[in-house]
Amino acid sequence: MHKESGPLRSTVGFLVLCSLASSTVSAVNTAPPNAAYVDTVNKADVYLQELADARVVSGTVAVQKSGQLVYSNAFGFASEELDVPMKDGLIFPIGSNTKFFTAVAVYQLQEKGLLNVTDPVNLYIDPTDFDGLGTLGWCPVLHGKEQLGCQEPSIKQLLAMTSGILPSDNMGCGTPNSTWTANDWFWQYRLTDLKLSYGDVGGATGNFFNGQETMAQQLNAQGSLRQPFLFAPGEQYCYTNANFNVMGYVIEKLSNSSFTDYVTENILKPANLTNTFYWIGGQGMEPQGLRKNVVSIPGYLTTFNKSAEDGAPAEFQMVQRTPWWEGDTAYMAAAAGAMYSTMEDLLKWYNTFTTNPEAVGLTKASLKNLTMPIQPLGIPGLNASFGQGIVATGTKNVTNKLMYVGGIWGFHTHIEMWLNHDDPTQSDAILYFTNLLSVIPPGSNGTCAIKSPNGGSPIKLRSSACGGTAEDGGADLTTLVVDELAKMWNISSTPSDSA
Ligand SMILES: *[C@@H]1O[C@H](CO)[C@@H](O)[C@H](O)[C@H]1NC(C)=O
Ligand SMILES: *[C@@H]1O[C@H](CO)[C@@H](O)[C@H](O)[C@H]1NC(C)=O
Ligand SMILES: *[C@@H]1O[C@H](CO)[C@@H](O)[C@H](O)[C@H]1NC(C)=O
Ligand SMILES: *[C@@H]1O[C@H](CO)[C@@H](O)[C@H](O)[C@H]1NC(C)=O
Ligand SMILES: *[C@@H]1O[C@H](CO)[C@@H](O)[C@H](O)[C@H]1NC(C)=O
Ligand SMILES: *[C@@H]1O[C@H](CO)[C@@H](O)[C@H](O)[C@H]1NC(C)=O
Ligand SMILES: *[C@@H]1O[C@H](CO)[C@@H](O)[C@H](O)[C@H]1NC(C)=O
Ligand SMILES: *[C@@H]1O[C@H](CO)[C@@H](O)[C@H](O)[C@H]1NC(C)=O
Ligand SMILES: *[C@@H]1O[C@H](CO)[C@@H](O)[C@H](O)[C@H]1NC(C)=O
Ligand SMILES: *[C@@H]1O[C@H](CO)[C@@H](O)[C@H](O)[C@H]1NC(C)=O
Repeated sequence: MHKESGPLRSTVGFLVLCSLASSTVSAVNTAPPNAAYVDTVNKADVYLQELADARVVSGTVAVQKSGQLVYSNAFGFASEELDVPMKDGLIFPIGSNTKFFTAVAVYQLQEKGLLNVTDPVNLYIDPTDFDGLGTLGWCPVLHGKEQLGCQEPSIKQLLAMTSGILPSDNMGCGTPNSTWTANDWFWQYRLTDLKLSYGDVGGATGNFFNGQETMAQQLNAQGSLRQPFLFAPGEQYCYTNANFNVMGYVIEKLSNSSFTDYVTENILKPANLTNTFYWIGGQGMEPQGLRKNVVSIPGYLTTFNKSAEDGAPAEFQMVQRTPWWEGDTAYMAAAAGAMYSTMEDLLKWYNTFTTNPEAVGLTKASLKNLTMPIQPLGIPGLNASFGQGIVATGTKNVTNKLMYVGGIWGFHTHIEMWLNHDDPTQSDAILYFTNLLSVIPPGSNGTCAIKSPNGGSPIKLRSSACGGTAEDGGADLTTLVVDELAKMWNISSTPSDSA
């Protein structure tokens, strides 16, 4: 969704797979950085502080180089209203960074012999758990080609976003390839479902959930299983949160436990992610009561005076900095986007599954399959493919880089990891977690800059960082920050993507 959207836009089990001695848990080496890095640390501080003063950067930032945490700092405000500064260790909603936890859980179930990712997911859908499916089971048809009968996407196709399931929201598919928009025919099918779900759960201004709903109840609210398919399974790619919510349902069904209990017992505890959790409280039910140190919800949306588009970049003025809560996204976050974490925990998570997948119940073969580039995203300037719940760059057989930008309610959690194949404990990574989405329109002559906070010359940004709207995810400031830090630390941008 940009809410919980694609990489550039942006939600107590019975199977205790592995109980761990502390020595098996990967953690970043937090030894003080090499003195050689002092200059680079200062340079990063100056760069980010300037953007923070200009009020376009707010959040936590970290750099891991050759397995060592060399930089970590916080900028801006956790809550501007309450004058609370941002600091390391704060918990953010991680949006779509949830998806890889879900994908790992599915592969754990495969390791246990409870499913095979090549199976049609239809096999695992109990029609009595859903409204309107009849008794015969899930039989989605292809829009416009209904005569072809039931579509049967494999579990792997759901995890790779190639199933054909219709977006549960009004998003497009997140690829230039797809010209389909929700206006084409989505709403005609959604009308009944929207009445049902919005009516029943309280609408955009109410609370959708009380925090205890099952994945089946959430899928019912989305209406996803009552919709026709957008395309035949495997034919195309479409970034659709419903894929992961269906997998969340399968996890609950096969493990006989709630998604939150399953993930806690089988992933979070073994990986020692003590500040990571799943939570679906819904609007107005911030998790501060549940967990302390959660950043202020909602995040912020900063926009600049649009009319300044005609003027010189120096004239750009910030005109709005508003709390941003997309009231209608909670109902589709679930196993696609309803987890919370800290930058420190997310880095620990990436280090754990890349260096020691067995610690979280995965064989090396499962990890390799999960992180294999499958579907090129086709986003200009981004050589990357969707794997299964994660974005991967590499060749068909070798993954060189993993990344994700989770986005929800004005928060973006961006992580990139450059893998060291010879020694996975020596990988590089950069993270930027932000509670501020900046929308910076392009200036005249294609220039792109923001007003200097101190009355100096405008801060020039690369043009790719500008030009967005709040609707399409706005300026891609998280990628700008990560790219700049990569340059400062000589972390090279990667190897080809030929998937
Ligand atoms: C788990 O992580 C916490 C910090 O979040 C740390 O204090 C503790 O030692 C870790 N436990 C293990 C078993 O690694
Ligand atoms: C899943 O099923 C396929 C096709 O029958 C088979 O080739 C594959 O080995 C199975 N995978 C696992 C992990 O059992
Ligand atoms: C684009 O559509 C073509 C034709 O349906 C398909 O072969 C291709 O895989 C699609 N690409 C993406 C990125 O979805
Ligand atoms: C879940 O419950 C069913 C029926 O009681 C049982 O057959 C199955 O083994 C259980 N699964 C797990 C993972 O415990
Ligand atoms: C936005 O720009 C217009 C035209 O330059 C100006 O009249 C208006 O005052 C500006 N608004 C704000 C809030 O700065
Ligand atoms: C835009 O480019 C034209 C031609 O190079 C130049 O004359 C003009 O001053 C530029 N405008 C701004 C605002 O930089
Ligand atoms: C990995 O993928 C290959 C090729 O699709 C398949 O043969 C193999 O069974 C998969 N292994 C696992 C553990 O998923
Ligand atoms: C893929 O990599 C594995 C080693 O990880 C190697 O055994 C295999 O031959 C490679 N396959 C291709 C097609 O390159
Ligand atoms: C990056 O490379 C430059 C040029 O070789 C060097 O001067 C600088 O110290 C390096 N910085 C880091 C953080 O490695
Ligand atoms: C993307 O990959 C292609 C093909 O491997 C390569 O030629 C190109 O330079 C890469 N582009 C970027 C921006 O990395």
